[in-house]
Amino acid sequence: MLRKIILGGCLCTASFFLACTQQVQSGEQSNSSGTKELKMYQESELALLMRTMYDNNMELRQEIMEGKIPENFPERFYTIHTATISNGMSREKGPFEALADQYLNNMKAITRASSPREAKIAYNEMVMSCAGCHQIYCPGPLVKIRKMRIPLDETTDSNHGR
Ligand code: HEC
Repeated sequence: MLRKIILGGCLCTASFFLACTQQVQSGEQSNSSGTKELKMYQESELALLMRTMYDNNMELRQEIMEGKIPENFPERFYTIHTATISNGMSREKGPFEALADQYLNNMKAITRASSPREAKIAYNEMVMSCAGCHQIYCPGPLVKIRKMRIPLDETTDSNHGR
């Protein structure tokens, strides 16, 4: 019994190390039954969605940096409310649905921007809402997320330039 728990703990550490580095402690709870660890290697719907969001938003970033204002974003992002989370993690850890709504509202705000500058500011606010949720649930990708921000200064953000 004890051996199982220790082993579970190790597997758990290894798999979370890839994504949500500091989730190890909260991940331990679900490891008292012997079968659950194996599932941890499977990607959760939420983890897959997150990677799609990252890729899509990096494409949006490029467009916005070129001075375009995106008209929409993938409908699929709304599944953040229903996608299943990885074993060992729980939405109950914080106000997940409220943070998810904030993120979706920030996505919508980008499409409503009335100037390229406003689009950049709205985009950066959206990135902050990724970071806000990650501080509670999944600190691992925070460095990567912070790098998504668009630098705002006179040279990249003048009215006549891009
Ligand atoms: C409402 C909370 C929330 C928001 C908003 C959020 N995330 Fe996440 N993110 C999570 C959780 C929880 C996980 C862990 C998912 C799992 O393992 O099931 C995660 C996982 C990830 C991962 C790791 C996926 C993997 O390979 O395991 C990346 C990368 C990521 N998010 C990027 C982003 C980006 C980029 C944004 C904004 C565009 C974002 N997240 C917005 C909660 C959030």
